[in-house]
Amino acid sequence: MANDDFEKLVREAARIIASSQSSVALTGAGISVESDIPPFRGKHGLWERYDPEEYAHITSPRKDPGKVWQMLGELLLICRDAQPNEAHNSLARLEKMNLLDGIITQNIDGLHQKAGSNEVVEFHGGNSTMSCMECGTQYHTKELSLEIIPPRCECGGVLRPDFVFFGEAIPHSCIERSIKLASNCEVMIIIGTTGIVVPSAQMPYLAKSTGAVLIEINPEKSAFSDIVDIFIQGKAAETMKSIMSNIKS
Ligand code: APR
Repeated sequence: MANDDFEKLVREAARIIASSQSSVALTGAGISVESDIPPFRGKHGLWERYDPEEYAHITSPRKDPGKVWQMLGELLLICRDAQPNEAHNSLARLEKMNLLDGIITQNIDGLHQKAGSNEVVEFHGGNSTMSCMECGTQYHTKELSLEIIPPRCECGGVLRPDFVFFGEAIPHSCIERSIKLASNCEVMIIIGTTGIVVPSAQMPYLAKSTGAVLIEINPEKSAFSDIVDIFIQGKAAETMKSIMSNIKS
């Protein structure tokens, strides 16, 4: 994209966000790439090395906990060390400026909360807690050592992170909160997602059907790019930084 076009679209996006009564963000793995967390798909994606059918299906942790915990341990340690980037920070600032009602994130990395966002729906669960697969006891991840895997409950059962695995239902409360946010917003900012995983991918369609303006930020086209009103071809952190400096000026 030519620089002039980028600047023009960024200014337009900033104007729309600043003048709206209610914006909502839908985020995916791409927003955390500049925080050094690998995406799932594409080059260097996690699913390039780990087949999701084998490692991320609801049956996977029970079938072969040792194997699945190699991937989970790697991911959790990356998330533990990762820091929010300018895109996460910008969304947190927008919330404080009363320009953002909430974030629907598909990410389990916790970076929106680390950045200071309060209204975050973790559509695919989060990394802050784990549960025993035998007795259901829940633990705070930060209290557990991830040096020895798989981590175990006091009862001897293997723990699993409270992510939503493939084949597992999205918690009802997350669906409800997301539908409320998506159907009431005037603007939806879609950042760094392929838009191919449902039901999270239905949220922009819901927002659009109730009249919201859709703004997308992604270096590549996604499943949403043909229905959005503004597509900004760019990385999350640099694009959000530019949008914020336009909102402030
Ligand atoms: N800034 C913004 N977007 C980026 C960046 C970046 N720096 N780098 C990559 N992207 C975009 C890619 O172009 C792609 O559209 O981020 C997206 C990453 O795609 P995925 O890894 O498939 O992530 P996502 O769409 O969020 O995955 C959805 O699939 O595997 C499941 O549960 C997992 O939540 C995940 C869901």
